[in-house]
Amino acid sequence: MQPLAVPAGYVLLTLVLFTPAPARAQSPAAAAVPPTALASVTDAPPFDQAMALAELRKAIVGKEDLPSVEVFKNITQYKGVTAGRLLRIMDYGFTRSLGVDCTHCHVPGQWDRDDKAPKQIARAMSQMMAVINNDHLKKMSGLNSANPSVNCTTCHRGQKRPALESPLAPGTSPALPR
Ligand code: HEC
Ligand code: HEC
Repeated sequence: MQPLAVPAGYVLLTLVLFTPAPARAQSPAAAAVPPTALASVTDAPPFDQAMALAELRKAIVGKEDLPSVEVFKNITQYKGVTAGRLLRIMDYGFTRSLGVDCTHCHVPGQWDRDDKAPKQIARAMSQMMAVINNDHLKKMSGLNSANPSVNCTTCHRGQKRPALESPLAPGTSPALPR
């Protein structure tokens, strides 16, 4: 009988197939990741919005006036605006009105991806805004403006969560008296 040959192979296979993930993560191979490689992950430079916008503007040079839907990959709401204007909407309309940077809705460099919830919410907010503007404000009589409208800033004013209470003026009660 050869006691080692078959059982050794079998034991190795069993280990590979059934060792739970956490135990495998502590294998010598994982431990051998050089500390510098880990350091470079944590030392990644902070997101630079101005640079991201500059790179995007460079990438669409000559196509600024084409419909955004022809220039970008995943446009569902802002099909009618030009590519140049889409970037201005991202900058002025979205980030400033909410008080966030691009990473709130995007994985930088992978702008067409839809995996961040706020990006999906932003699309729904755009639809809500269109309903307010086209179905309600346009049909209201007696308003001051010729073209009354709301935009992201009307509600958000630099915050992710629009306020429900007016700013406190001296002598006013902190909440609506009940
Ligand atoms: C509040 C969320 C939000 C923020 C903040 C935001 N975006 Fe967007 N972005 C969107 C949504 C939603 C779309 C898709 C619009 C559509 O479907 O018409 C989009 C689309 C894009 C696209 C087109 C990608 C493609 O190929 O389809 C680019 C490029 C882009 N954003 C860049 C930026 C940059 C740069 C910033 C920061 C200055 C930014 N965005 C900030 C929500 C956001
Ligand atoms: C009529 C008011 C109103 C308008 C206009 C409006 N929003 Fe909102 N928005 C809200 C409210 C209310 C919430 C929910 C806040 C909460 O969760 O309590 C919200 C939440 C959001 C959120 C989720 C908050 C987060 O943490 O990411 C995003 C993203 C957002 N809005 C984007 C937009 C964008 C982009 C526009 C313009 C296209 C817009 N909103 C226009 C009222 C508005």
